[in-house]
Amino acid sequence: MHIPVLRQEVLEVLAPTANQNFIDGTGGAAGHTLAILEKSAPAGRVLFFDWDIETIARAKEIIAAQDAKLLERVIFINDSYVNIAAIAASKKFKPVSGILLDLGLSSDQLEISGRGFSFQRDEPLDMRYSLNQELTAREILNHWEEREIARILKEYGEEPFARQISGAIIKNRKIKPILNTAELVSLLVQVIPPKFQHARINFATRTWQALRIAVNDELDNLKRFLPQALDILAVGGRLAIISFHSLEDRIVKNYFRNLAKEKKAKLLNKKPIMAGESEINRKTRGRSAKLRAIKKI
Ligand SMILES: C[S@@+](CC[C@H](N)C(=O)[O-])C[C@H]1O[C@@H](n2cnc3c(N)ncnc32)[C@H](O)[C@@H]1O
Repeated sequence: MHIPVLRQEVLEVLAPTANQNFIDGTGGAAGHTLAILEKSAPAGRVLFFDWDIETIARAKEIIAAQDAKLLERVIFINDSYVNIAAIAASKKFKPVSGILLDLGLSSDQLEISGRGFSFQRDEPLDMRYSLNQELTAREILNHWEEREIARILKEYGEEPFARQISGAIIKNRKIKPILNTAELVSLLVQVIPPKFQHARINFATRTWQALRIAVNDELDNLKRFLPQALDILAVGGRLAIISFHSLEDRIVKNYFRNLAKEKKAKLLNKKPIMAGESEINRKTRGRSAKLRAIKKI
């Protein structure tokens, strides 16, 4: 069975009890949703968002395999969590006792989606969570201006060789469009000095992170989501967010701190909650996970 990141810790901060309603903004393989459904039995409901239609279909199968009756307590939404307030209102989903975001991509997207999320497979450079979006990684690489590409590599990837990489992209695409992951990896191999190619973090990680954030507008979506989530939470309701890199975590940390200062929410943890040793040993994704949570007052 799929054990989601920080499962126990998420249950502790969201503290679901019988018959409460929760929103899972990034439902994925339904690991957290199943845990919440168990604690909010017999009648608690989950509004389950995922931007990826294939993920929604798989989540339905996963939940049904556990117990088909659970599906009656889940409302599936194939949309971005950025539309959380409007969708919760249109579904008359309230009161909301807790909201969860587990940011980034799922292991299915990384391993079997065929959309170029992994630099270890040769796939089309797509990187969209939602196939209804127009912007793809191919579009950025083959049509954006050099300085815009350098900007996202620097800002979203914190890539020290952003200028060199963007320069090489422009040079290469004049000869032949950059269409697949293997082509981009071989371009990085040419540009990034060899001694930086053997660091602890793979040299392609930063470029991939930057492209994924840009394609899916991840930081902006998170910023737009936060005030809406606070707004639709019931007083005493909880908001929990798991982030995987410093750019996301900074947005969450600052927003939560300001709410605490303004006495709109109470921080449930001063320092982010990280995975324990057993979880870190079990899977790599847990290694960089940081959970922050607040309670609305
Ligand atoms: C890390 S996975 C979630 C895993 C899930 N918590 C579980 O227990 O299986 C993140 C999911 O969020 C989805 N996602 C990413 N951005 C989204 C957005 N803006 N709105 C809705 N879903 C999004 C992805 O498609 C992916 O399935």
